[in-house]
Amino acid sequence: MKVTICGKGGCGKSTVTSLLAKALARRGNEVLVIDSDESNYGLHRQLGMELPGDFTGYFGGKENVLNDMLLSKFTHQFFQETWTMKDIPEKYYNLKDGVKLMVSGKIHQANEGCSCAMGTVMTQFVQNLRLAENQFALLDMEAGVEHFGRGIDNGVDLVLMIVDPSYESLQLSKKVGELAESIGKPFYYVLNKVTEDSREMMYENVWRPEQVAACLGTDSAIMKEGLTGKELSEKPEPIERLTDFLLSLASKQEGSHVTGTV
Ligand SMILES: Nc1ncnc2c1ncn2[C@@H]1O[C@H](COP(=O)(O)OP(=O)(O)OP(=O)(O)O)[C@@H](O)[C@H]1O
Ligand SMILES: [Mg+2]
Repeated sequence: MKVTICGKGGCGKSTVTSLLAKALARRGNEVLVIDSDESNYGLHRQLGMELPGDFTGYFGGKENVLNDMLLSKFTHQFFQETWTMKDIPEKYYNLKDGVKLMVSGKIHQANEGCSCAMGTVMTQFVQNLRLAENQFALLDMEAGVEHFGRGIDNGVDLVLMIVDPSYESLQLSKKVGELAESIGKPFYYVLNKVTEDSREMMYENVWRPEQVAACLGTDSAIMKEGLTGKELSEKPEPIERLTDFLLSLASKQEGSHVTGTV
């Protein structure tokens, strides 16, 4: 199952991606985490890994990718054949405790150009990737909804939006829900950094409360590990339940489509 993890800046996308990846792997699943955020450098630390090489390097680097795209008037296909998790070359992933991490590409220096090259390669990669029932790909996206515009979500089975207690996040829950529906993808929310005070208000204001798949509180251990760039060691109960839920959806998955509700 391929899952996009999205939401507004700082809502907890990378945190939930890491916790979920670890929980899925502990249950014996093979997990591929795809760092699709060109700007941030937190995810590999939360997973306790070094940053692997930019995957655009496999196609000769960002400049070559952009050239191929321009010369072909944006029709260039980077993957002639479908890939499995085993086909990812060693140079472009790191592995720890059953979790493989790959990185689409980071912006390394000023004036190096936009991140279209990374976006295009990852969009095509996700579409081409074939997974077995016990394999999961979790895509930690950049903040906002540009990934929908790029079409990367067309290749996934499910959209998971992380919603923190802010007006912007709650507004965005409608936009993300509508965008996911417009491409026929099931979507669920994970309410994050929830407190006693905000829980009820979040359920009242999120666009489709029935799509809330998990509710994770503000956790001081997660906050401390996050703040110091340490590997996340917590096993929060809501993430365990979210893992059960995704596993049950994956087992019901027919072909490439997910059915079922919370
Ligand atoms: N449930 C939680 N309890 C306490 N702190 C949390 C929780 N979830 C996330 N955080 C903290 O909030 C901050 C932002 O989290 P994170 O980096 O996962 O967000 P993000 O959505 O990936 O951000 P970005 O948009 O910058 O990629 C981090 O310092 C993290 O440790
Ligand atoms: Mg992040």
